[in-house]
Amino acid sequence: MNLLILGATGRTGRELVRVALSRGHHVTAYVRSPEKLGAERASLRVERGDALDTDRLSAALAGQDAVVSALGLPAKLALRPSTFMAEAAAATVAAMKRAGVNRLALVSAAVLFPGKGLFYAFFRWFLRHHARDLSAMETVVRATALDWTIARPPRLVASADERIRIASGTLPDRSYSLSFRALAGFLIDCAESDRHAGEIVGVAR
Ligand SMILES: NC(=O)c1ccc[n+]([C@@H]2O[C@H](COP(=O)([O-])OP(=O)(O)OC[C@H]3O[C@@H](n4cnc5c(N)ncnc54)[C@H](OP(=O)(O)O)[C@@H]3O)[C@@H](O)[C@H]2O)c1
Repeated sequence: MNLLILGATGRTGRELVRVALSRGHHVTAYVRSPEKLGAERASLRVERGDALDTDRLSAALAGQDAVVSALGLPAKLALRPSTFMAEAAAATVAAMKRAGVNRLALVSAAVLFPGKGLFYAFFRWFLRHHARDLSAMETVVRATALDWTIARPPRLVASADERIRIASGTLPDRSYSLSFRALAGFLIDCAESDRHAGEIVGVAR
């Protein structure tokens, strides 16, 4: 398949590129900093552009079968008020509609699931600005007629552990972390099929 990856220079994105290439897909990395791509760069089509640039993105989307997005903000920006995630989602869905690409798998966060207890309440407060932006992002995506899947992972960790549990509309029990690699495998699974289309999915180790 022809897969376009957003956020391909990030921690999840690099795993997405690795997994997609290992499965034989034709991968386009739409990135603003191609120099950050690793050794895989030689096996990719690289399109330079900003995620908010609908015109550039729709041009890069010509001939693609699906989009996988692992866009994110650096921690210090994620802790401040931002509308980047929602704006990027709006640009992505507009570009997809224009280019006639229908399948979208993207990353949100488990903090949007309701939770109990003081620790969760503190965590939710600490991440309140990013959570608001992610919630707005999800609203944008859910309002489209695209075949979307939204994955909500808890804390992501760098590990070769590919274990993952999946629950529709909730976080699997006693789930505190997931590897970037396992998340990438799940998102590529979704892009390859209609699996979990129209669902918000809790994913965790
Ligand atoms: N990390 C966690 O523990 C965790 C937990 C739960 C959910 N999540 C969610 O998972 C997602 C991905 O997380 P991550 O840790 O893999 O992110 P990350 O390592 O910070 O990567 C973010 C990616 O987004 C790209 N990006 C940001 N602004 C852009 C723009 N204007 N145009 C084009 N690309 C842009 C970055 O490109 P540059 O390299 O050019 O900056 C980078 O490739 C985030 O949305 C986050 O909310 C993360």
